Amino acid sequence: MASLMDRVSNFFGGNDAETGEGLRSLFINELKAIYYAEKQAVDALGEQADAASTDEVRNAFLMHQEETRNQIMRLERVFDSIGVEADSMTCEAIDGLAEDAQKVVSMTDSGSLTRDAGLIIAGQKVEHHEIAAYGSAVTLAKVLGYREAAQLLQQTLQEEKNTDQKLTQLAESFINQRAASESDMNNTYGDRDNDALRPDGTRYDDRNSTGQTYQSGSSYSSGSQMGGTTTYGSGTVGSSPSSTGTSNDATLGGMSGV
Ligand SMILES: [Fe+2]
Repeated sequence: MASLMDRVSNFFGGNDAETGEGLRSLFINELKAIYYAEKQAVDALGEQADAASTDEVRNAFLMHQEETRNQIMRLERVFDSIGVEADSMTCEAIDGLAEDAQKVVSMTDSGSLTRDAGLIIAGQKVEHHEIAAYGSAVTLAKVLGYREAAQLLQQTLQEEKNTDQKLTQLAESFINQRAASESDMNNTYGDRDNDALRPDGTRYDDRNSTGQTYQSGSSYSSGSQMGGTTTYGSGTVGSSPSSTGTSNDATLGGMSGV
């Protein structure tokens, strides 16, 4: 039987049909799981937009919901490009993350900034899952020589990264505005003046037409992990993220000679 080194070298030389077939079916299964995840995400993003307290967070979810619909169609083109019918395969990871987001809604007050903080965290967990899934799928597509699929998947990977970044900026703007508000009140805590400010300087509860109040004392403490710097490199299969050219890509690492 051929040694592992021989098999790897045969594979990259295009001579290992067995491994090639195995990777192709792995790739297809990954695509099916991503397809399932994106479909779940469309529904979840709608629910999260409905539950959001502020227009900024609501709009971020609605925008990404629209983008996600396009990503589903793009995945159908990926399936088509490799001659496989588009199909879903249950992804427990995304189901769990969607449940976590529902928990955030049930455990926070309607109209509170704490809810939006929780929704941003939940949203970023989904994005990081998708970044890992798409990053690995791009690498697999390259290894298998599916250039069109690789390009399409790379497009979506970039969109997921952009969304993650937008959520980070949104989170940081809340935190910064709250800090400015607290400083403005000479570090006096405990009343509505500690609520976060909108970018235009008005308070979030000033425009709350439903009569609900946004909680002062919401958990926008400095040092929060929300929106913190992300490290996509960890948690990937293989851990040599430089193979796709950027150190932040989630990849199968080091396998791609394409
Ligand atoms: Fe997505």
